Amino acid sequence: MNDPRHPTDTAPHTVLVTGGNGFIGSNLLVQWVTRRPDLTFVNVDCLTYAGLPESLAPVADAPNLRQERVDIRDAAAVQTLIETHRPKIVLHLAAESHVDRSILGPRQFLETNVGGTFNLLDACRNLWAGDTDCRFHHVSTDEVFGSLGPSGQFSETTPYDPRSPYSASKAASDHFVRAYHETFGLPVSITNCSNNYGPRQNPEKLIPLMIQNALAGKPLPVYGDGGNVRDWLFVTDHADAIWEVAYRGAAGQTYCVGGETERTNLELLNSLLQCVAEGTGKSLATLQSQIQFVKDRPGHDRRYAIDCSKIKADLGWQPSHQLEDGLRETVDWYLANPAWIEAARARGHDEWVKRQYVEAGRA
Ligand code: NAD
Ligand code: TYD
Repeated sequence: MNDPRHPTDTAPHTVLVTGGNGFIGSNLLVQWVTRRPDLTFVNVDCLTYAGLPESLAPVADAPNLRQERVDIRDAAAVQTLIETHRPKIVLHLAAESHVDRSILGPRQFLETNVGGTFNLLDACRNLWAGDTDCRFHHVSTDEVFGSLGPSGQFSETTPYDPRSPYSASKAASDHFVRAYHETFGLPVSITNCSNNYGPRQNPEKLIPLMIQNALAGKPLPVYGDGGNVRDWLFVTDHADAIWEVAYRGAAGQTYCVGGETERTNLELLNSLLQCVAEGTGKSLATLQSQIQFVKDRPGHDRRYAIDCSKIKADLGWQPSHQLEDGLRETVDWYLANPAWIEAARARGHDEWVKRQYVEAGRA
């Protein structure tokens, strides 16, 4: 496929994005619907607790964005959807995405992440029938590779070793995507990305949860000893990587995507609290005194780290945000958008936090 960043190079076509009301999907759509008014975007999302109409407010009136309320677990509905819109590009992000929820209720992860991906693959196979000038891009996670010790990094050749129901479901869906390429010639690509952060992330996840609790004077629950390491990438950098790979990455290929920013959870939390203190005038010492060590997550992966040299070398992508700048931007966004936080809470966040604490015995 030609490089569509140059509109004269390519005919108008439809980009179908699943999960566009979620964290990464909404950032991707806000970015690319505006950048590419010549393309038609279709957002497919059934608005689970994690899907917020409010997250697409910046592009709500864009003439090139259509909304489809379809549950990807419904095979017939997915088939109709794909036949109706006849996309050239599918960017598949819809998923159950939270490890803690997958521990409390794994079945939904199997059904949406594996079954939903399968339904989309099968519908694209029927539509494209051997056409290779199109792309099914699957957005996956570095968690499929398991847990690292103190050294080493995941790369495209690391064997899969998922350890939570979430990562197992993402690993299974990755395998289906590759199988459809090898067996049926479906033009696919996969990105395995590290932890994202930024605006519009559901307050169940570490960074927005800590911001909310810090502002409310509530405890900041750190699992275990706080020494688990994650690699952090600003969400719009991930959205750019997805676009680059979908349009310019080779079919059948996987690309690892990361921020080259490893931090222990405690290091990250301290940097975050510094930003909250600067943004609100609260005392850093008071915020730090809210930190509470709680019972660890079962099977908690110790360390993730990504070698992203392939996407850098092949496609010229690289992370553009320094962690401290990205955290400041994130805190500022949450401070400026209390209505969005209320909307997220109204979709079941408070009930979820209560259940998590009661059932997991995290007092
Ligand atoms: P999210 O939970 O914020 O959003 C998921 C979206 O999918 C929501 O809008 C939800 O309504 C929708 N959805 C869920 N089930 C659906 C169904 N059955 N049918 C239709 N829509 C449905 O997730 P996110 O953090 O934006 O993650 C997006 C993708 O990126 C996921 O596939 C995730 O595995 C992957 N990923 C996330 C991260 C991260 O740090 N957040 C890192 C790497 C990869
Ligand atoms: P999370 O945002 O759930 O992402 P993931 O589990 O996919 O990496 O968690 C990031 C890290 O923060 C992970 O090591 C678990 C830890 N964590 C806490 O210590 N406390 C919390 O309240 C949450 C939600 C996560």
